[in-house]
Amino acid sequence: MSILIKNGRIVTAADDYIADIYIENEKIKTIGHDLPFQADQIINADNKIIFPGGIDPHVHLEMPFKETFSSDNYETGTRAALFGGTTTVIDFITQKKEKSLFSALEEWKGRSTGNTLSDYAFHMSVTDFNENTRGEIRDLIEKEGITSFKIFMAYRGSLMVDDRQIAGLMDEVKKYGGIVSAHATNGDLIDYLVAKNKAEGRLSPLYHYLSQPEITEAEATGRFVDIALQSGIKPYVVHLSCEGALNRVRNATVRNQKIFAETCIQYLILDASVYNRGFESAKWVMSPPVREKKDQTALWSGIEQGLIHTVASDHCPFTWEQKMMGEKDFSKIPNGAAGIENRMELLFSEGVAKNRITLNQYVELTATNAARIFGMYPQKGTIAVGSDADLVVFDPGEKHVLSAKTHHMNCDYSEYEGMEITGKCKTVLLRGKMAIDKNKIWVEKGYGKFIKRNIPE
Ligand code: URP
Ligand code: ZN
Ligand code: ZN
Repeated sequence: MSILIKNGRIVTAADDYIADIYIENEKIKTIGHDLPFQADQIINADNKIIFPGGIDPHVHLEMPFKETFSSDNYETGTRAALFGGTTTVIDFITQKKEKSLFSALEEWKGRSTGNTLSDYAFHMSVTDFNENTRGEIRDLIEKEGITSFKIFMAYRGSLMVDDRQIAGLMDEVKKYGGIVSAHATNGDLIDYLVAKNKAEGRLSPLYHYLSQPEITEAEATGRFVDIALQSGIKPYVVHLSCEGALNRVRNATVRNQKIFAETCIQYLILDASVYNRGFESAKWVMSPPVREKKDQTALWSGIEQGLIHTVASDHCPFTWEQKMMGEKDFSKIPNGAAGIENRMELLFSEGVAKNRITLNQYVELTATNAARIFGMYPQKGTIAVGSDADLVVFDPGEKHVLSAKTHHMNCDYSEYEGMEITGKCKTVLLRGKMAIDKNKIWVEKGYGKFIKRNIPE
């Protein structure tokens, strides 16, 4: 199977030029002007931009939550990802306390293997670091290609680890060249505020937001990067949402520490006014919560200043029926929101089309930096001879409206309902195969491949 893409504007993290791309056997074979090849399929990309397929480094597909699961499974979630130009997702495995990391891996393989349409990889969330789990780290990195680990500094009793465990995990992961990321919010302070609000009868979703003030994230972010400094590992902060946390990262760079930070598309676009809509605000109950307008400004500046490296989705949707679990008590609302399909187009519309970021920065934030940080570069995250032919043919001028009626995520509402955006993914190739074209999916479940990752650069 060969494909020739004619005359596209090829944009990578470093380049911007017009050329043809010839693809054979899943890979980019040649890039050049007026390529003289015959191909099984020809795509005319006049006036279109060609981006590397997006990499979403933070998704939760079919994630167990109490007696339910996040509502996109590996099939529906990765299909939606492809519609939105994301060709690789990194999903989170969660260890169960007192159980091994490998038993969690088996459980996650059971749900995902053979069911994805996009390519995928796993981070391992370590919720119980002890002598047994220490012994599993090396094999996860070297045999399974799971080179990134995550800890939670919140959710005491189920997910949270203490500082001693964070330090122990970092020391072990560092030995084998992996990376440690954190959900960096102060769990005990949040639990205190949740209990206080509930005891005083404040039970609506607004109090989810008010129970997680900026300081809870700033404090934990500072603590996480401090522990990383002592260990000597490069930390990665997931879903950084506010100015206070960004300033902890900024301050740490002053002592010449290297830190990777991720924000999510919702924190760049939405603000806390979404929590003034009564129970409807449950749609935006996620952790950290959506912040203030001044935080959006800080995050865009953080991107400009090179402090934020990736824009993820933290895709963790729950249907309205699932959100209703917390109708009488905000602390029972499942945390998370949908975004896997919208991330790339929203960042183009709000970032590139509004002149906040350049096209090259766009590629860095949506694909290249994640590929580099998480050990997939240059197989993924760029357009180069020998790389996987994961490509998005993008119309930068097409306007369209986001809606649950037209999205492909398994969620019966959209946090962006009615929002008009500029720029649309028209054709998406995954490893040289047409995955999306003419608003249709052309690959089936099982086409998506597990990506064993290397040691991050
Ligand atoms: O609210 C969120 N973000 N849910 C997903 C799990 C997490 O903390 O990332
Ligand atoms: Zn989190
Ligand atoms: Zn998450």
